[in-house]
Amino acid sequence: MAEIQTGTKMQHESGKPTSELGGIVVLDFGGQYTQLIARRIREQRVFSAILPCTSRVEEILAYQPAGIVLSGGPSSVYDADAPKGDPGVLSTGVPVLGICYGMHWITKVLGGTVEPAGRREYGRAEFSAADGSCGKLFEGLPRTSKIWNSHGDHVRALPYGFRSTGLTENAIAAIENSEKGIHAVQFHPEVKHTEQGTAILRNFLFTVCKAEPKWSGAAFIEETVEAIRKKVGNKRAICALSGGVDSTVAAALVHRALGDRLTNIFVNNGLLRKNEFEDTLQMYRQRLGLNVVGVDATNRFLAQLKGISDPEEKRKRIGREFIAVFAEEAQHLTRGSGQEAIGFLVQGTLYPDVIESVSVKGPSATIKTHHNVGGLPPNMPFALIEPLRDLFKDEVRRIGRELGLPDEILMKHPFPGPGLAVRVLGEVTADHLTLLREADAVVREEIRNSGLYEKTWQAFAVLLPVRSVGVMGDGRTYGLTVAVRVVNSDDAMTADWTRLPGEVLERISTRIVNEVTGVTRVVYDITSKPPGTIEWE
Ligand code: XMP
Repeated sequence: MAEIQTGTKMQHESGKPTSELGGIVVLDFGGQYTQLIARRIREQRVFSAILPCTSRVEEILAYQPAGIVLSGGPSSVYDADAPKGDPGVLSTGVPVLGICYGMHWITKVLGGTVEPAGRREYGRAEFSAADGSCGKLFEGLPRTSKIWNSHGDHVRALPYGFRSTGLTENAIAAIENSEKGIHAVQFHPEVKHTEQGTAILRNFLFTVCKAEPKWSGAAFIEETVEAIRKKVGNKRAICALSGGVDSTVAAALVHRALGDRLTNIFVNNGLLRKNEFEDTLQMYRQRLGLNVVGVDATNRFLAQLKGISDPEEKRKRIGREFIAVFAEEAQHLTRGSGQEAIGFLVQGTLYPDVIESVSVKGPSATIKTHHNVGGLPPNMPFALIEPLRDLFKDEVRRIGRELGLPDEILMKHPFPGPGLAVRVLGEVTADHLTLLREADAVVREEIRNSGLYEKTWQAFAVLLPVRSVGVMGDGRTYGLTVAVRVVNSDDAMTADWTRLPGEVLERISTRIVNEVTGVTRVVYDITSKPPGTIEWE
């Protein structure tokens, strides 16, 4: 197999990294579960890539896929603006699995009929495999099981050459044309509520597609390290560390490839949590052995934020200042040394960041301008190294673990790039930052002490510029308000507020009011996402 070097991965002549060949291509018809489908497939150690449903057949075949999955989607196939794929996908000889909308699209393209269901099926239903031969997807499974549905249309007449392999009370639930290797289900096997979902996906992957379970962390690390070495040669690279999981795992991976030729930069923007800069810097240097330049740029950032209350303006200013500091530091590293300028920049970009922009829906509306190093201007004189751009967060954690990173970093809660600036509502002042740091430290300490840290997605405090009257001792108080936010989530796209035990809430409230002078009231945020976002700004 011919291999060439162009990116951060060892590449096949098809242009794809070798470890990404022979997996599954998931075509995105706009479904809310598309990412979940890709993850479930990877859990079976088969690589999966999400492409927009409009991808040309050649783009799909460049992955040399063992199978193609057509995702669900919110539309009806008869809608004027319903997403359309290339019908050629159904005649490449590569096995296909259509899910929900994917099943409707297959049916329509191949001459069957789809119609609005008399009764919309949403939620759990009972699936029964067809009498006689049940079809390859259901081989070895119980005849009946619970499935999860979410659809308004259903298949009424099958395309020529297809047979129904399963039913629910209201609809044809599964079809197949085994000669053509085309299978489809009306329900969602990727959702945990579908009892046999994993078994059905495994049947598709290993019985129908004959895919090999070869996608593994160790192989990924080995291939990536080798490719980075080849790409960078004997040059140098820099990495902007944020203290979070993604940039740390990216740095550890590149460190393994380049050793001392990687310099990491960790900026204190004055918006970090209590002791975060010092503690993280020490951990990077002493426990991880990374070469890190720590830059205290607190004053510069606070000067930029003076008088600014608008959340978007705060984010933009922080993003700009961060880039300025970072570019200056990169120059310092080589100035006067006679060495050539550093040409490579390492980023911890993840797969969800990448596919957001290629989804069938197009770039989603900007709710918040997320700031991380991804906001670098196009004229930065760096070639990017993004070793994690094919991975999901849980996979990044697994890679980090294989690289020997401690749980202290891998299990860390996410923290926004603009830091406490989006948690001090209104103008960000040094005084308010100090109050918030103290209150936030109490929240995190109590969450840890109650054994809930690893079980929650994020737990933090927000300082509200709202004063209220209180009484302490014999005196009247008139102080600020802290909102406590604790959420559970899988991927931050949706989140549920955490039902904390009353005793934990009580300890948090009592300690904040007693220990943080200037705060006299504590409230608990019981808004889920949607409609709220996780951060307040
Ligand atoms: P929201 O508030 O949009 O946050 O529900 C979703 C997740 O993203 C984090 N977040 C950010 N992360 N830069 C980041 O790197 C940002 O500007 C940013 N804003 C929010 C947030 O903490 C949550 O985990």
